[in-house]
Formats: sequence, C-alpha cells, structure tokens
Amino acid sequence: MCGIFGSAARRDVADLIVRGLRHLEYRGYDSAGVAVVDGGDLKVVRREGRIDRLAEAVVSTGLHGSTGIGHTRWATHGESTERNAHPHRDGSGNLAVIHNGIIENHEVLRERLVGRGHAFSSETDSEVLPHLIEEHLKDQDLLGAVCSTVPELIGTFAFVVIDRTRPGVLVGARRDSPLVVGIGDGENYLASDVAALLEVTRDVVYLENGEVVELTPDSVRVIGPDGRERPAVAERVEWDAEATAKGGYRHFMAKEIDEQPAAVAKTLKRHVDAADERFLVPGLAPIADFLRSVQRVTIVACGTSWHAGLVGKFLIEERAGVPVEVDYASEFRYRDPILADRHLVVAISQSGETLDTLAAVRDARARGAKLLSIVNVQGSSLTRESDAVLLTDAGPEIGVASTKAFTTQLLVLQLLSLGLARLRDRRSVEETRAAVDGLRRVRAKMEECLEARDEVARAAERYARASDFLFLGRGVNYPIALEGALKLKEISYVHAEGYPAGEMKHGPIALIDRSLPVVVIATPGRVYEKAISNMQEVKARGGRILAVAAADDAAVAKLAETVLPVPVVDDSLSPLINVLPLQLLSYWIADLRGCDIDKPRNLAKSVTVE
Ligand code: F6R
Repeated sequence: MCGIFGSAARRDVADLIVRGLRHLEYRGYDSAGVAVVDGGDLKVVRREGRIDRLAEAVVSTGLHGSTGIGHTRWATHGESTERNAHPHRDGSGNLAVIHNGIIENHEVLRERLVGRGHAFSSETDSEVLPHLIEEHLKDQDLLGAVCSTVPELIGTFAFVVIDRTRPGVLVGARRDSPLVVGIGDGENYLASDVAALLEVTRDVVYLENGEVVELTPDSVRVIGPDGRERPAVAERVEWDAEATAKGGYRHFMAKEIDEQPAAVAKTLKRHVDAADERFLVPGLAPIADFLRSVQRVTIVACGTSWHAGLVGKFLIEERAGVPVEVDYASEFRYRDPILADRHLVVAISQSGETLDTLAAVRDARARGAKLLSIVNVQGSSLTRESDAVLLTDAGPEIGVASTKAFTTQLLVLQLLSLGLARLRDRRSVEETRAAVDGLRRVRAKMEECLEARDEVARAAERYARASDFLFLGRGVNYPIALEGALKLKEISYVHAEGYPAGEMKHGPIALIDRSLPVVVIATPGRVYEKAISNMQEVKARGGRILAVAAADDAAVAKLAETVLPVPVVDDSLSPLINVLPLQLLSYWIADLRGCDIDKPRNLAKSVTVE
C-alpha cells in the first residue's frame, strides 16, 4: 500500500529514486511522484498511472538534485489523479511530503489548518502533513517539527519530508506502516521495504513504531516517542539484489512459481539443520516450555496466508492434538475472542506488515496470549513484536499474487506441527525423523510437478474464456481449493469460488451446467473416494471437470475432461504439490486474457491500511 523511497546523497538521486520506486511498484500503481531539492529549488514531478510515466517525465523535465523523495500510490482518499499524487506541498512551497497509511483525523486537522489560512489542493488525507509541519517549523527545525506533528496524528503512517531551505536533510516518521533506513557510503536512504534498498545497500536500521528519523548523507538520528535519541544500529539483510530481478522471466509470478522447490528446501534447511536431536527447531526454543502445555491455538492471517493457516489447523490438530481455530485477522480484531489460559496465537504473513494481522496480534497479546509468527520478511514489524518467529525462506516475493511465500508457509507449518507433537510427547524421535525425511523429498516432487507446466498451459487455453469457476477440495486440500480460486480471481479477474467438496450438494451444485469448469483436487489420501464421488455428481450434471490428480489415475481419467497431473505424495504433504498446477492454471489463464499478472488491478501487496 503505497511505496516510499528517499535519499540524502552527494550525487544526483532522481534516477535512484525512480529505480527504488520500481521495486516498490507492487505496493501501489495508481500514481507516482518525485520531489528533489536542487540548489535552492524544490522540484516536484507527479504523474497519474505507472512508474514508467513518471520515469519519462523525470527525464523530460531534467529533474536533478542530491536530496529527494519518491512515492508510488495505492489510492485511499481521493481518486488516482495527478492532483492527488504525492509528494504534497505546504503553503510556503518549501516542503514536500510523501505518505503511506491513513490519517484518520485528517478532516479535523484540515478544518483547523484551513482556519489558519492554509489552502489545500488535493482530496487526500496526506496533504495535512506538509501543512502541519509548516506550522511547527515556525519555531523549530525540521526534525523538531516532525516530532511535534506525530502526536497530533490519529491513524497509521510512514511519511518523509524534505525542505527546500534544508538541502541534504530528510526527516521521516512511522506508526504502523513500515519505514526502513538504508545505510550507504556517504549517502543514506529511507524506503518502505528492504527489497527496494538492496540495489544500494544491505545494511539497514529498522524503525520502531512512533520513531522519527533524520537522515543526511553522513548521519542517521533516530528519536523515540519519548523524545530520546537512540543509537541507529545497522543490521545486515540476508537477501541480495539479484533476488529482486526478473531473471529472464516475463513475469515475477512465473519466476516465483519456479523458485518454490528451492525456497521450500531452503526453508527446511534453515530450521532443521539447526534443530536439536529432539527436532526442536531453534525458532520455537524461546517458547518451548509454554508449548509443552499449550491449551489452544488460534491462527490469524489474511488472504493466502489465511489459507496456509487452514492447512496448519489440519496438521497441528492431527499431530499435536491441540485444538486450533483459524481466524481472519480482520475479523478477530473486531470480535471479543475468548483466549484460554496458555493460548498460543500464530500469525502468518509474508510481509509481516499487514495491518489487520498486526492489529489482531496486538489485541491477542494484550489479552495474555503468546505470539508465534511465521513471516517471510526478516526485520518486519511482526517479527519484532513476537515471542517467537519462524522465518520462511521464500526470498523477496514481488508478484502481487502470493506463491512461494505460501508454499514456504506450508513447510513451516509442517515443522511447527512436528515440533509441537515432539514437545507434547505425541510423536517419537523416529517418527519425526521419518516425517522430516519426507519433507526433504518434497523438493524433487515439486520440481517433477512443475515439469508439467506446458500441459497446464494447454489446459488453460481450453478454459481461458470461461466466466466462472468452481474449485473443490476436501480435507487438507480444501484450503488448496480456496487458494486456487483466489489466485484465479486476483490475477485474471475471473469469478471463482472455492468450496469443501462435501459442501457442494448443500448449495453450489445449483451452479453446475455445461459451461462451468469445476476444478477438483482428487489426489490419493484419506478423502480420495469422497472426491471421486463428488466428481461423479459434477459429471452427472454436465459440469466440465479439471482434476488435479495422479497422472495414471484411471478412475479420474474416466470422469475428468482434463487432468492436471501431479506426483503422488503422502496426503499431509499433498497441499505443497497440489497448489502448483493451480498457480500455473491461473497464471496462464491471466496471460491468455491479457491481464497484468504481476500488478493486478485494484490490488497491492502488503496491505498496510485497514
Ligand atoms: C494473495 C495475496 C494476499 C495476501 C494477504 C496477506 O495472493 O497475496 O491475499 O496473502 O494480503 O498478506 P501477508 O501474507 O503479507 O500478511
């Protein structure tokens, strides 16, 4: 949700900022803008639409300056017009501000500022920021003015301001929206995420909630909400710049689908190589005693990560014998959830910055729950607010539709369920070792599965024009049906519903006719026969069946119009495999329909607003 990039340097930073914004475009692509301080001038260029349009304008207007900020917008308040694009200016024309988040009290602030003679030119909530800072600048420096502005704001924000009269200085602040400082050699940066910084540095300082930062080319000062300065200690990021490149693929999503076998293997290695002889993975160690006697588990997450949570429920209940609920984070926070004594909350998030998830876990912790997070982005807000963290090793996920983050989450949930089972003496070391050996074989099975990508592409041609799809799965593959439907909806804009196959007869069966493709997951396992019966029911009503099934399954072949073949694995591991053809199917259908696969309309990755 909106991307922020800024730099204080001794060289021209206009191009650097545009490149930084390109890495952040997945966070929003409604409009974009850059402001630089050039000599004694503040120059601003803004454009509606994608970064490419902004990049052209930056070149054609000859924008240069060694202090600058840039923004890519996901519209909340006000349409995606140039007028509403960031940076926004104050009345004096000295300041330019970029903002990510929502200033909830913007109307009250605006009214007050208008009363004092400030004139506004956009419909955004963000425009109050430069005007408020301008007010505070009357008796303070820029850092002081921002420190005084922050307590006046209700809502979520990361913002950065530059001042024409203070070249070489950038001041930023954050509350509940991400902002990371990058430390360079004689230049420093601010960005919404680490991936945007990798081209210039891997040394970063994570800002805590409520902190304000002042950057110059040579210094970084971090001021806490209590007004005290704290040392800006840099941490080294594990990712490198190469991981954020397309690497010859047409789309990040295609690259990220292909990266899954390696990402899953890397995630397994990270945790298992460091596990002790009881298979206690180090990430669980800080809460091991608590886990031994945990009473209940609630998993909170959004979107694809929520689907991973549903798979986690199956695994944890079956292996560790602990009751698990899975809640949408956005619902959990507005209920009065009952948290038992010794209640574990597991948050799952690729970005670690999803506002709904962060709000839910804060609420749960305030009610006494312990928090374990499964997160892809090291150093993200969620990792810093948790009692224990299990990282996924997906690397930077750039495509808006989540793929490799999902499968690495599934892998970590496997380890969590095994670890919990060991801690609660529900599984022997030998059984656990056998299960981990099974996980080691998953990489090869995933690779084998992805070899069928051309077959899936041909299948996609047959169904690309359908206007509705039904996805059915049972047991541990019911969440995979939901995930298949979500992938198709978000990147191809085709209506799709995911259902537990057994529920079909209670309603959705009415939808089935000769035009409706029904994707059925029918791989060997506990509910295989049930899935076959569901296929019979679809076939009897003329539905067109695409089955995710073993290549040599004769029973499926008789019923399905198309088989998306997958290698056979143990039922509990099958989600890791079965989701792959569904990701590919949505990818190819979206491609055939001419959709913008990596940047689907209306969506943004990392949803940092409510
Ligand atoms: C779907 C997708 C979203 C995210 C959701 C949660 O492909 O990407 O549904 O899964 O917004 O995001 P994270 O996992 O970053 O909390």
